[in-house]
Amino acid sequence: MSALLEVKNLEAAYGPVKAVRGVSLSVPDGKIATVLGPNGAGKTTLLKTLSGINDPKRGSVIFGGQDVTGLDPSEIVRQGLVQVPEGREVFPLLSVHDNLMMGAYLRRDRDGVARDLETVLAYFPILKERAKQDAGLLSGGQQQMLAIARALMQAPRMILLDEPSLGLSPKLTQEIFDIVLRINRERGTALMVVEQNAQIALATADIGFILEGGRIVCEGPCAELRERADIQEFYLGMGGQGARGEKRWKKKKSWQ
Ligand SMILES: Nc1ncnc2c1ncn2[C@@H]1O[C@H](COP(=O)(O)OP(=O)(O)OP(=O)(O)O)[C@@H](O)[C@H]1O
Ligand SMILES: [Mg+2]
Repeated sequence: MSALLEVKNLEAAYGPVKAVRGVSLSVPDGKIATVLGPNGAGKTTLLKTLSGINDPKRGSVIFGGQDVTGLDPSEIVRQGLVQVPEGREVFPLLSVHDNLMMGAYLRRDRDGVARDLETVLAYFPILKERAKQDAGLLSGGQQQMLAIARALMQAPRMILLDEPSLGLSPKLTQEIFDIVLRINRERGTALMVVEQNAQIALATADIGFILEGGRIVCEGPCAELRERADIQEFYLGMGGQGARGEKRWKKKKSWQ
């Protein structure tokens, strides 16, 4: 299958701080990729460099067969690669509806925009209910939904999602990932999701990349990653180190 996103030897830095140190990866069209890794691994920097917010120091980003390396963010959005920023960044003083329409500001196909608005509101019924309210009045989970919905209004071929579960309850996190899956399956939109909740990310995505110290240290189909002992231990908390592992261990002890 042809790759929609092809990244080669990408490097990005903040002054002397090298945050991304030669990342190469590819994501096939229509697939969900997840990027896991500890705090400070360079996950956010990687997404920002792909979407043009950060300038790469070296390497290349090919999207849909076009070289988009170092282009302005708006040009990259025009090519169909759209980032939902960490922390959501909705416009708090604009209504939910106007936030959604801001997502479509680069588009000239009015009919397509009207159609997408309908579709997006069907994905997120709560946003339809709150359409006239200021976005700043939404809960954290609803703002995350709005940020994803706004990205969809840009008619993306691929969405870059940075920690969608941040600050959300397990139930809301599951809801967000269910919608991610629906968007992918129904629209064929590819996604790259950075996530701390490895459990849900590896259960949802097709392929996974583990980033540590700005480098990819492990990659593969999520079904394979889920089975690896080292990943179970460090990312899925099944080695008796994470909260989950401890709980299991305690439970076992109480049976004895
Ligand atoms: N604006 C910045 N200025 C200077 N250094 C930065 C900046 N943003 C990130 N860094 C540094 O770059 C490295 C990678 O950070 P990044 O935010 O990409 O990691 P991350 O994997 O997204 O972490 P987290 O899981 O905490 O979100 C870290 O060492 C971080 O301290
Ligand atoms: Mg981050």
